[in-house]
Amino acid sequence: MVKADANKIDWNNLGFNYMDLPYRYLAHYKDGEWQDGGLTEDSNLSINEGSPAIHYGQQAFEGLKAYRTKDDKIQLFRPDQNAKRLQKSCQRLLMPEYPEDKFVEAVKSVVSANRDFVPPYGTGATLYIRPLIIGVGENIGLSPASEYIFTVFAMPVGSYFQGGLKPVNFTTSKLDRAAHRGTGQAKVGGNYAASLLPEEDAKGRGFADCVYLDPLEHRYIEEVGAANFFGITKDNEFKTPISPSILPSITKYSLLWLAENRLGMKVSEEKIDINELDQFKEAGACGTAAVISPIGGIEHDGNFHVFYSETEVGPVSQKLYDTLTGIQFGDVEAPEGWIQTV
Ligand code: PLP
Ligand code: COI
Repeated sequence: MVKADANKIDWNNLGFNYMDLPYRYLAHYKDGEWQDGGLTEDSNLSINEGSPAIHYGQQAFEGLKAYRTKDDKIQLFRPDQNAKRLQKSCQRLLMPEYPEDKFVEAVKSVVSANRDFVPPYGTGATLYIRPLIIGVGENIGLSPASEYIFTVFAMPVGSYFQGGLKPVNFTTSKLDRAAHRGTGQAKVGGNYAASLLPEEDAKGRGFADCVYLDPLEHRYIEEVGAANFFGITKDNEFKTPISPSILPSITKYSLLWLAENRLGMKVSEEKIDINELDQFKEAGACGTAAVISPIGGIEHDGNFHVFYSETEVGPVSQKLYDTLTGIQFGDVEAPEGWIQTV
């Protein structure tokens, strides 16, 4: 892999692709405790062939971004929330939790060491940060690893769904990504392996990705690819699904708060029936990678339901997008504790 060169990056045309940046953070868990970690230049991990991460999926990850502000500061959006969610994922897969303060410190050190790769303000691009914990070591029986690796690497990214703020279309999947009492609330690789086939199927039929329905009745909306769903009802309420098998999205909870407290909207988390899409005048997918991607329409059972428009973002989604990204890029005042500078 060729090391990335910041001088050769076309910041306005980045997709969502891996890039080998100069530095990443690495820490090992051995003898029952996390050892002191540090930055390294080696982008390859060397692990034993018996490692539970590669056989039984004992691993968890996170995703967050660093943003360059107009006055050239670099800031993170709610990294403490990612640290907490990673701890919850670790609890579900019997992995040792990585301390919150050390998580934030590791993220900051990676961003700082790779600061030339934080895209310029105004391009809309960001530095995507990927923390990861994997169970490693000699182990072939189905039991938790005794050793772990925590690593954090990063790369500059643009839009996750092609089109950015242009609406994209989705289709429902007949397959599930996670069960109600499974691992849907945890950010673990198995959920994403299970989503590869439905995603490929949706893309093969010309959609951006698929909408997952609840695994019990296949009736209520769960997720939109690797993002949460939200809809704006005809009487201007911000609604987002509630379910034991969706990822508690940090973007979603931020939007719930902003819709209520900054835009004065009524908000709710409730079951959203795929047969009742008519209640919405706008809909979107939200997440760290997806930011806010307006949903043009959703195909389900042979019917195609269009929300606001297949070509234009709706006014409420636009306002939510402007408020959220305004905070992330430092142009709009942030609620207390949401922003940390690097
Ligand atoms: N749902 C899934 C399945 C995801 O992978 C993500 C991405 O992290 C989200 C939702 C959005 O979560 P967040 O806003 O915390 O990035
Ligand atoms: C994120 O939004 O951070 C994600 O994890 C999505 C990922 C599957 C690319």
